[in-house]
Amino acid sequence: MGETRYRRFLVTGGAGFIGSNFARMLLQGGAERVVVFDKITYAGNPANLRDLADYPAYEFVQGDICDPAAVGKALEGCQAIVNFAAESHVDRSLLSASEFIQTNILGTQVLLEAAVRLGIERFVQVSTDEVYGDVAEGYSREDDPLRPRSPYSASKAGAELMVNAYAETYGLNAIVTRGSNTYGPYQFPEKLIPLMITNVFESLPLPVYGDGQQARDWLYVLDHCRGILVAMERGEPGQIYNIGGGNERRNLDVIMTLLDLMDGPTELITHVEDRLGHDRRYALSTERLQALGWRPETSFEEGLRETVEWYRANGSWWRPLKDGRFTAYYQQNYGARARLNLETPGA
Ligand code: NAD
Ligand code: DAU
Repeated sequence: MGETRYRRFLVTGGAGFIGSNFARMLLQGGAERVVVFDKITYAGNPANLRDLADYPAYEFVQGDICDPAAVGKALEGCQAIVNFAAESHVDRSLLSASEFIQTNILGTQVLLEAAVRLGIERFVQVSTDEVYGDVAEGYSREDDPLRPRSPYSASKAGAELMVNAYAETYGLNAIVTRGSNTYGPYQFPEKLIPLMITNVFESLPLPVYGDGQQARDWLYVLDHCRGILVAMERGEPGQIYNIGGGNERRNLDVIMTLLDLMDGPTELITHVEDRLGHDRRYALSTERLQALGWRPETSFEEGLRETVEWYRANGSWWRPLKDGRFTAYYQQNYGARARLNLETPGA
């Protein structure tokens, strides 16, 4: 890590997709102590952390961010908290919002309370571009109003407001990052890109919500992690930083690019009912973080290629997730029949 300001971290939600990539990056950079604190929900996976056990600086604690005693204990000796822990899937928040309020808002407040009590030097709240809501044109800037439109994004906006309250009231040194749609290794295969990749491998239908013309700004996970690191190290206390990949793509175009890369048949594409309240577009201005020296380094095509290769090489990681909890979830819930319809598409 060279001459970095912070060297001892609590990484909450570090057994999930972005958090595990981030914990690995900290350890590879020479951090003195990295405590991954994670409840291990359906999305948390100890297999994401297996290679980290080789680092003496690494420790894993299974716990819930809503539990003040567990949080206080895990924080011993840490300088900074990076909070990834969340319920993160919009579709699930449409089925049941209470876990989102519990973890994303209450859990964040528990962490903030502990941070103030224990004199934590830096608090990083990992948030999302979804707090801006649907953006028909132009690019969201950090001072734009919050207009979340799903229970997930509303809970993330609520968490941000709590962070701001603790910064203003108690002088907590906190920053917020707002990342865009992230993809790469270790992403749970219910999100668009890993779902499409693994469905192509399994010759399953590729479920496109509505017309598939919704646009997202795709960000490679390591670029997202580097952005969080830069904001943590160099960001101004109390400030918010957008992190976007600068790769705006419509969902159908993403799927076509993947099919092209994987030599998959377009016949797999299956239009299904649209997501309720589906935001059509998110897009970020990232000038503020770029002024601190960060740039996304991975082109979308290169990032997709690496991601496809990772899923190709790691079937033993994703197959059990799709065969077990994941399938059961979709069989019971929203859009299940359409998405897991095993009949030949178009038949
Ligand atoms: P993920 O769902 O893969 O991981 C979330 C992790 O949090 C899991 O390991 C889970 O076990 C853990 N967790 C959930 N509830 C917990 C609790 N109560 N206590 C402790 N741990 C708990 O999510 P992700 O995609 O890696 O996202 C990480 C963070 O980044 C989230 O806060 C999300 O809102 C934000 N974000 C994600 C994206 C994206 O595209 N994936 C983009 C921008 C921001
Ligand atoms: O924008 C950042 C957000 O990106 C994060 O805050 C969230 O945690 C993360 O899950 C992601 O949210 P999205 O809802 O944008 O991601 P998801 O992968 O679920 O969907 C991406 C787009 O693809 C969205 O327009 C819905 C569409 N979609 C998704 C799935 C799973 C489909 O058309 N078919 C699908 O099967």
